Amino acid sequence: MKNVKDLQVKGKVVLARVDFNVPQKGGVISDNNRIVAALPTIKELIGKGAKVVLMSHLGKIKHKEAPEVVEEQKKKNNMAPVAVELAKLLPEAKVTFCADTRGEGLKAAVAALNDGDVLLVQNTRYEKGEEKNDPELSKEWASLADAFVMDAFGSAHRAHASTVGVPEILKGEGKQVAVGYLVQKEVEALRKVVEVPANRHPYVAILGGFKVSDKIKVIDSLVKKCDKVIIGGAMAYTFFKALGYEIGNSPREEDQLDYAKKMIATGKVMLPVDSVVADSFDNPQDIRIIDIAKDGVPAGFEGMDIGPKTREIYAAEIAKAKTVFWNGPMGVFEDDRFAAGTTAVCEACAKLEDAFTVIGGGDSASAAKKLGYKEKFSHVSTGGGASLEMIENDGHLPGIDVIGD
Ligand code: 3PG
Ligand code: MG
Repeated sequence: MKNVKDLQVKGKVVLARVDFNVPQKGGVISDNNRIVAALPTIKELIGKGAKVVLMSHLGKIKHKEAPEVVEEQKKKNNMAPVAVELAKLLPEAKVTFCADTRGEGLKAAVAALNDGDVLLVQNTRYEKGEEKNDPELSKEWASLADAFVMDAFGSAHRAHASTVGVPEILKGEGKQVAVGYLVQKEVEALRKVVEVPANRHPYVAILGGFKVSDKIKVIDSLVKKCDKVIIGGAMAYTFFKALGYEIGNSPREEDQLDYAKKMIATGKVMLPVDSVVADSFDNPQDIRIIDIAKDGVPAGFEGMDIGPKTREIYAAEIAKAKTVFWNGPMGVFEDDRFAAGTTAVCEACAKLEDAFTVIGGGDSASAAKKLGYKEKFSHVSTGGGASLEMIENDGHLPGIDVIGD
């Protein structure tokens, strides 16, 4: 794959797709990790004297909703505060923001760039053609650029206009397309959990978080690649239900019960043996530890974390591993009363000395950061969905394949 460092782009307009889908509270960025992660590529382009045009999506915009709802979503997912944060991180460059996603306003903003300037464009999802990979939209965006760099690892599983449509067109026109430093680093690290040679086993995957169906295909491919797949979080309750246990008010996905049974039958799936449950998710007052197989979750209660016995069993399994992939917390870790499970698996991974350990994005990365263990992992991916799909698709993602082939 061509890398950003190989590009000759002095005085040229380079469209770089980044993943600036970052959390914000009241117009202030609460976690700038993804912006920081894209800086090496942006600085490389500035150093080469390119005119840098950055595009990213932010949040979700459902164009099928009523116009006033769409307007509300646009307001909530305005990219302007991200430009402010980016400007702080790049004091050496002139950073501007373009509130238009296409048309004369965008063209003029690009035309106004000098070599080494950076322009951040408004949220790509303001355009309803973005998620449909609309050819007209891709054509218009491609017409602005002399070259394209893909550095949005977190969005590389989306075949959208800004991730796939634009580089396809530019490649067809014989223009330069490349991956950035972040994508390069992510791909190199994640390939090590996609293909795991015998001497890097045991390979243990840890999956948590809310939904089974979101992660369904990945469990299937993980049981083939791994020695053990450790399950925690809300998704464990669909497995418990499949086993016929009482699960109280815990979330479950009825249409995934057969699949859960099939996964259990592989003999590789480990489920919690005890659980921390509470009488309410939003305002827990009565908190209990239960033996799920013996007692089930009491009526009116729901699962909030894995229990103390499970923590020990999981930590002991992780301690044997030479390769670990972790995606999703074991419980509602944002609340200290339900953080012990996530802390235990995080600690067990952090203690491994001769192992390759990867966190697949999102909540587990925030948990590791919050607990102070982030630096102990071999790789912390900026992409949750992207890293899962990369494993599922044996190392392939549409936004990366388009650059490579
Ligand atoms: C993410 O945060 O998962 C990526 O930025 C992709 O966002 P999406 O799931 O809304 O496509
Ligand atoms: Mg996502």
